[in-house]
Amino acid sequence: MNDIRILWKESIARALTALLPDGTEGISAERIIMETPPDPNLGDLGFPLFSFAKLMHCAPAKIAADILPLLQADPAVQGQGTIKAVGPYINVFLPKGDVAGQILNAILTQKDSYGKTNTLAGKKIMVEFSSPNTNKPLHLGHLRNDAIGESLSRILKFGGAEVYKTNIINDRGVHICKSMLAYRLFGNGTDPVKEGIKPDKFVGDMYVRFHKYSKEHPEAEEEAQALLRKWESGDPETLELWTLMNGWALQGIQQTYKRTGVSFDKLFFESQVYRKGRAEILEGLARGVFYKDEDNSVWIDLAPIGLDKKVLLRGDGTALYITQDIGLAITRHGEWPFDKLIYVVGNEQIYHFKVLFYVLKQLGHEWYTGLHHLAYGMVNLPEGKMKSREGTVVDADDLITDLKNGALEEIAAKGREEAVRNPEEVAEKVALGALHYFLLQVDAMKDMLFNTKESLSFNGNTGPYIQYMGARISSILRKAETEEGKNAKAGTVKPELLGSEAEWALLKKLEEFPAQIDKAAAQYTPTLITGYLYDVCKLFSRFYHDCPILAAENPDTAATRLALARAVQIVLKNATELVLVPFLEVM
Ligand code: ARG
Repeated sequence: MNDIRILWKESIARALTALLPDGTEGISAERIIMETPPDPNLGDLGFPLFSFAKLMHCAPAKIAADILPLLQADPAVQGQGTIKAVGPYINVFLPKGDVAGQILNAILTQKDSYGKTNTLAGKKIMVEFSSPNTNKPLHLGHLRNDAIGESLSRILKFGGAEVYKTNIINDRGVHICKSMLAYRLFGNGTDPVKEGIKPDKFVGDMYVRFHKYSKEHPEAEEEAQALLRKWESGDPETLELWTLMNGWALQGIQQTYKRTGVSFDKLFFESQVYRKGRAEILEGLARGVFYKDEDNSVWIDLAPIGLDKKVLLRGDGTALYITQDIGLAITRHGEWPFDKLIYVVGNEQIYHFKVLFYVLKQLGHEWYTGLHHLAYGMVNLPEGKMKSREGTVVDADDLITDLKNGALEEIAAKGREEAVRNPEEVAEKVALGALHYFLLQVDAMKDMLFNTKESLSFNGNTGPYIQYMGARISSILRKAETEEGKNAKAGTVKPELLGSEAEWALLKKLEEFPAQIDKAAAQYTPTLITGYLYDVCKLFSRFYHDCPILAAENPDTAATRLALARAVQIVLKNATELVLVPFLEVM
């Protein structure tokens, strides 16, 4: 199908060149712009000619009229469709049968590879996402982060890149020491794993306990700082408790990752890299890139990027958040020399990353140009704000369980327990579909409210609606194997039979998939894939409504429409996988 487009571009380029005075440099096919006309009645492809008006000293509509006969006479595009000059455009009506055949054939033969491109072949892209602190379990904000990071990684891979998924576990700092302190005070030596308590929740409860306690005992804050100093100096008893509690937190967090389907190629730990940052800063100081204040703290002047100045190392030599990020970036590039490193981190850290990238530039790391902060907005429930100190955060596991219960109710209300065979498993998948689709369908930069009820709706732009369409198609394909599919089995696939408006629109949408991948990969936007899925499902729904499949009288028509349904199933499977929405054969 792509080939036909290229043939038309080349033909138009030749026709334009022929109209130029002798000796003028020719027009290349790359300069021909191609669009999709807003109304399919105007054609399948549209080539605007505005950009040649100046060069040719001629109105675009006149150019269109002048090249029309040349195009019609061009042997290279014989049989590749019919054309019309529509004002300043040349519009092409593609030969439907051939094109339909090409599209169907590509999808049905490439199957789970359909949509893959090699636009990013040879590119090494590291994606950092999630990056939790080990003093509490994952919350709704992490779910948004994880969805964006994991989905983007899958999309980039589909676009041909080599992708390396990383995480920085913030396992060091005063926040951890607060949970540790509370454990000493209130933990009674409890082992949550033995007690069957999800261990990250247990650590999080300790953190909340600390804040309650410190309201009555202001000295607790100072005690936490003292514990951090002990940790930094390597005190064995402190390290032991730290190891134990960090292990609990991480174990619980990883259970949640497993549940939501996100994974990492490598976990980095702040405790292991923060020292490296300090050494880098001291080196930069020696080279005169940074300067020292009277109190021995190290600073960078940000005037060249229109900002103030920023402290990189405290007077007492202790590391700051940015200190560890400097060490981390350098370590990562050393281990896996990336072309790009995408940080999926909330938009409240835009300033932090601006400074970080500038510091790395000043330190002479040429690869700083490949660093990118993919910022995203806040996510809350309609009922209120998240505050982790008071323990009012929206816990990730609890939210998924709520969604799952909602889905179970829906299955029961529809009397579908038997049909779905395993309601628990299906409900869990519907919950994940609802969650991930809802989170990804909003532009990343926007703040959003997570509406549980809306996300679970089977109508509209939701995960369950997409899953439902997938299940519906799967049901048709199952039926085709039974008595009901007799007619379709007897027929032959004849793509030229897919001539109706609904069939043609659906086919053309399926054909767009690889281009959508490239676009989503280039713009780092999974939202394009959720939007694409919605379009496919709406068009399938129209097709299904307008065109009987198994019930079509003509066996060839039935067979051909069935092939189209099969192609839609493949595209839905491939695309839902990219946005972390489980595909369901029944629901
Ligand atoms: N753990 C940090 C936080 O909760 C986010 C880390 C983001 N990644 C980074 N390389 N700084 O704010």
